[in-house]
Amino acid sequence: MAFMRRRTFFRILSLLAVSLLVRLLVAAPSPASSVSSLYTADSQEIRKQGVLDLVTRSDKPLDARKHKFLQARMGRDERPDLFTDMIRDGLVDYWERYQKPYIVGHDTAHMDEQTVFSAIEQLLTLNGWVAALCPTLTRPFGQNKYEDAYEDLAKQDYLYYIGMVIHSADHFLVDQLAVIVQLAKRLGPSNLFVSMLDYDSSDSTSTLTDLCEAVLTLLGVPFRIRRVPGMTEDPLAAYYPLEEAHTRNLALEPLHELYERRNIKFHRVIWLKGFTCPNDILETIKISVVNEAAMVCGMDWAEHNGFFIFSDRWRTRDINGDQFRQSKSSSISTSPLTSVPPRDAVGAQRYTQHLPFQVFCCESGTHVVDPAQSYYAGVVYRSGTDFHNASTPTSPLTREPEAKCLDSAQAWFCRDLWVAKAREGLHAIAPEAEAHQSTRVKRADDDNDDSSVPIVDEEPLAPRQPQAAQQEDLDANAGSDYDATDLPLADPPPSEADEIDRFTIPNMDFLPARILVNPRCVTTYAGVSHTQLALDLFGPPDSDEREGMVKGKDVLEQWQGAPDTFVCQEQQHTGGRRAAKTQRRLSFSIHKELEEVLESS
Ligand SMILES: *[C@@H]1O[C@H](CO)[C@@H](O)[C@H](O)[C@H]1NC(C)=O
Repeated sequence: MAFMRRRTFFRILSLLAVSLLVRLLVAAPSPASSVSSLYTADSQEIRKQGVLDLVTRSDKPLDARKHKFLQARMGRDERPDLFTDMIRDGLVDYWERYQKPYIVGHDTAHMDEQTVFSAIEQLLTLNGWVAALCPTLTRPFGQNKYEDAYEDLAKQDYLYYIGMVIHSADHFLVDQLAVIVQLAKRLGPSNLFVSMLDYDSSDSTSTLTDLCEAVLTLLGVPFRIRRVPGMTEDPLAAYYPLEEAHTRNLALEPLHELYERRNIKFHRVIWLKGFTCPNDILETIKISVVNEAAMVCGMDWAEHNGFFIFSDRWRTRDINGDQFRQSKSSSISTSPLTSVPPRDAVGAQRYTQHLPFQVFCCESGTHVVDPAQSYYAGVVYRSGTDFHNASTPTSPLTREPEAKCLDSAQAWFCRDLWVAKAREGLHAIAPEAEAHQSTRVKRADDDNDDSSVPIVDEEPLAPRQPQAAQQEDLDANAGSDYDATDLPLADPPPSEADEIDRFTIPNMDFLPARILVNPRCVTTYAGVSHTQLALDLFGPPDSDEREGMVKGKDVLEQWQGAPDTFVCQEQQHTGGRRAAKTQRRLSFSIHKELEEVLESS
């Protein structure tokens, strides 16, 4: 083990060396620095020699070798420090005396080509620390057994967009890079675009993003790595949901630019958070495709006193709008239906079978979004605006009981997905509705004449299950996912059914958003024993075969409408990521949301 660690360590060191070299080769020109212009001159010289033209050119839209703008670095942290001059002199000296003569020399140039070739070969085996374990971890339905299980995805030649927002999380970054390299290997380097946003990190993220730049450049993977300052000088004057929305929208900027200016459309957007195995991501993409899902999330697990608990409860709500339980990973084998994370009966049942289940909202680490049902349809990340700025002398606003929920940007995103889907349904049936001279939104099964109307919920909706008895509080300040901590202790009581406004169209009459959780996609944070976690969640290898579980029910047959109420956990004032959260149960009416959209447009 120590040997392995050391080897990996040296590999990382050699990567860092390569990264410095590549910085010399490709450094972006910056007028302020004379050294930069030196780099630029050299980089043109190198390009003339064709050193970087190693991967065969193609007519792919995302061919980074052909289109230089596809690999961009913005806002690099170039503030001088104590060693800046010394390092720069050393680099220039090494470059002038050893590298450059070798690269441009007639008799040595071909050897250099070989060196770069083998560097790329080496990079493709980059497996990180945790990622190296992935193929050995237990997964249901033999996911890890078949090497070619994801060949079909690769053959389709679709484009995938990887979004990352990094805020002082350097301990993940090398493994996340390893995951990206593995995905590039499977899906093809010019089928990916990597957007990394470094939001005001104060740890070694900026150095590691240099490493990412070097690796992605050599592999020909298009990217934009961008560093932006914090929204406020004082982190405690920041409003976290606003920061979330801001950074995610920034990370999506290249997606919109590529679409608007080059007409390049991505098939799926993969948000990498924490650590997730490459195969789990590929499988989640497949589940997203077969279900035509707007979003499919993994589940994230954090270490807690030697066991693992479901972690991202702030942003996750089951299809009844209830909060997930903070279950242990082993809950599946104890008293499954009352102790697993989702509280709703259908979700709990499917969770125990390791099958994807529908939810009202999720994020849970790595998640896959269909941009056609979201970003390309105009959905952006946003947050509440009437929060109290505790850094100002003003007193807090009094808020109405039904005031908008001041929760996470992701929770807003989920509600927006429900509303967007409902609008899509409205557009599809608008001619019908006009013909009937009625404002009532019709369901497809009301209209027996037109089966082409794309409304999915042909079956009557399943009745809502009553909430399971409230559990003993497990919500101690636990786990390493900050966002999930500091949640209020008890859940708010279930709402009274007759509180619901009778004058609005019930949510279940609208086309349902397809938001799913894939329990086989595991996201983790620091300190997790992955082998144990996998055994807890999925049992020993092949246990599903012994228990007669079969894959193949990954496609949901029945989709439910949005819940009429949900558990709203809000940060009502500034105070950064760890500002206190309060909670209330709030009604959710797609009809009202649609009316607001109409009024504001
Ligand atoms: C809160 O007020 C402070 C001081 O006026 C300001 O610097 C900060 O940007 C404000 N925070 C937000 C989120 O608007």
